Amino acid sequence: KRSAILISGRGSNMISLIAAAKAADFPAEIALVLSNLPDAGGLARAAEAGIAIAAVDHRPFGRDREAFERAMDEVLRVNQIELVVLAGFMRVLTPWFVTRWQGRLINIHPSLLPLFRGTHTHRQALDAGVGEHGCSVHFVVPELDAGPVIAQAKVPVLPGDDEDALSARVLEQEHKLYPLALAEVASGRAVLAGDAVIRR
Ligand code: GRF
Repeated sequence: KRSAILISGRGSNMISLIAAAKAADFPAEIALVLSNLPDAGGLARAAEAGIAIAAVDHRPFGRDREAFERAMDEVLRVNQIELVVLAGFMRVLTPWFVTRWQGRLINIHPSLLPLFRGTHTHRQALDAGVGEHGCSVHFVVPELDAGPVIAQAKVPVLPGDDEDALSARVLEQEHKLYPLALAEVASGRAVLAGDAVIRR
């Protein structure tokens, strides 16, 4: 499956996906890395890795999110993309885009969903005093961070943890989890059916 990774930042998950997709039997090809920020650090790293890159700056579109997404969608279409992989992409997507890519759009979120949606998930976990935290890969649905979970990885919360220590522990798991989950979706082993994930 021709896949695009959408990023806004440093792109460490993107790098782990690119590395995994190099295996001959990996069911997804990273055909494009697309950013809403032309100077995102991850874009340069993708180019160094030999991946086609593109940027659609959201700022000229102002509040018109759908116009921004139509511009992104056009880039995805031109590149014949079949699967969209969000990896630290920091724009909320409208129902228009999400519906258009339904079942072919996945995201990684740094918490054990349904716990701790939104931002500052490691702070939320520390404040809540949970003993266990982690990350989730999920199909994207219109409601933010509410899509059905494809795979999760857990880490312990240790005494003395601060946000940095906890996020580093989770990130290490993200880098392992996301390639596994992408492979399941790209191979058709995990499929979105309504608001559930079906395994074949
Ligand atoms: C990751 O923690 C991801 O779960 C979250 O944003 C971060 C992106 O990091 N959505 P990176 O750009 O992949 O390094």
